[in-house]
Amino acid sequence: MSRAKRKIDHINHAIKTGQSRQNGFDDVSFVHHSLPNISVNEISLQTSIGELLLSSPFFINAMTGGGGQETLHINRNLSLAAAECNIPIAVGSQMSAVRDPAERSTFEVVRKVNPKGIIFANLGSEASVEQARQAIEMLEANAIQIHLNVIQELVMPEGDRNFKGALDRIAQIAALSGVPVIVKEVGMGISKETAVKLESAGVTAIDAGGYGGTNFSKIENMRRSTVLSQFDDWGIPTAASIAEISPSVREVTIIGSGGITNALDAAKAIALGASAAGLAGFLLKTFVDRGYEALIEEISSLKENLAYIMTALGAASIAELQKKQLVISGETHHWLSQRGVS
Ligand code: FNR
Repeated sequence: MSRAKRKIDHINHAIKTGQSRQNGFDDVSFVHHSLPNISVNEISLQTSIGELLLSSPFFINAMTGGGGQETLHINRNLSLAAAECNIPIAVGSQMSAVRDPAERSTFEVVRKVNPKGIIFANLGSEASVEQARQAIEMLEANAIQIHLNVIQELVMPEGDRNFKGALDRIAQIAALSGVPVIVKEVGMGISKETAVKLESAGVTAIDAGGYGGTNFSKIENMRRSTVLSQFDDWGIPTAASIAEISPSVREVTIIGSGGITNALDAAKAIALGASAAGLAGFLLKTFVDRGYEALIEEISSLKENLAYIMTALGAASIAELQKKQLVISGETHHWLSQRGVS
């Protein structure tokens, strides 16, 4: 199967399988207080990922590139929307374009239509420092994401089978690439043990990429002739992943992602310890099913609704939202007590 066909399959199957809403955020509640003593126009959504300043916590997470006209059309529009809404955008894995210059245009368009925006390059953990440099240069990227996707590779018949040396390569990229490094999962979540290793490797940010949103085991199974379903329910739900990473690291920025589809999910991710929230499948589906204007409306209402939630909570800034009290019940509570996270 060609690489271009695989990219299109991923988009179509991701839209079809959608978001499972098993991300754990429904187990997380804010405590309501009736006297917040604040006005909506005092709310600041500003935040940061390491040295990068963001006007709001939302960004478009890594999805596509390298698949021909259809991915070019999607990347162009996602990047135009990112520019119009002043939020960062990550591209999908650039390894195909690093290896074959003919594949570059579907990535380069992201910078072309968004010359001043914050753009994240993206490669897998098999990448060398030199490949990371090329990926960054291709986009004049402000940061690079390195994705960890062991389960997806294992379920992909043509996927990798050797995962040795990833942490060492990440440490080298963090030391030598010249931009902040964000390590992310793609929907299986990051454990506190993995987070501690990544922090000691010198990364700037960890994106939980938790279970409960886009499910790459199910997506790859839709492409397989013989189904391998053992990983379909595998992974750390997003809320639990953020909650376990948060007390385990000191300096790194935590990003919440995996099944985030609304401002309340994002607010909960932030109160659990995240500084930013990435959305992939939901924004892709919005654009493909409903078009560019609907995408702009969704992103604008994410920001507006987050400001309303912060008003209700009396949190004037993202730093204040991070300190708001939560009550955690159900499976997420169970998970966190067994994992020794209080
Ligand atoms: C992805 N994702 C992804 N991630 C990555 O680091 N590199 C990649 O190339 C891709 N490709 C990709 C294609 C498509 C079609 C989708 C929907 C997603 C994963 C993505 O960035 C994110 O981690 C997961 O999708 C979980 O977030 P959502 O979709 O639940 O918000």
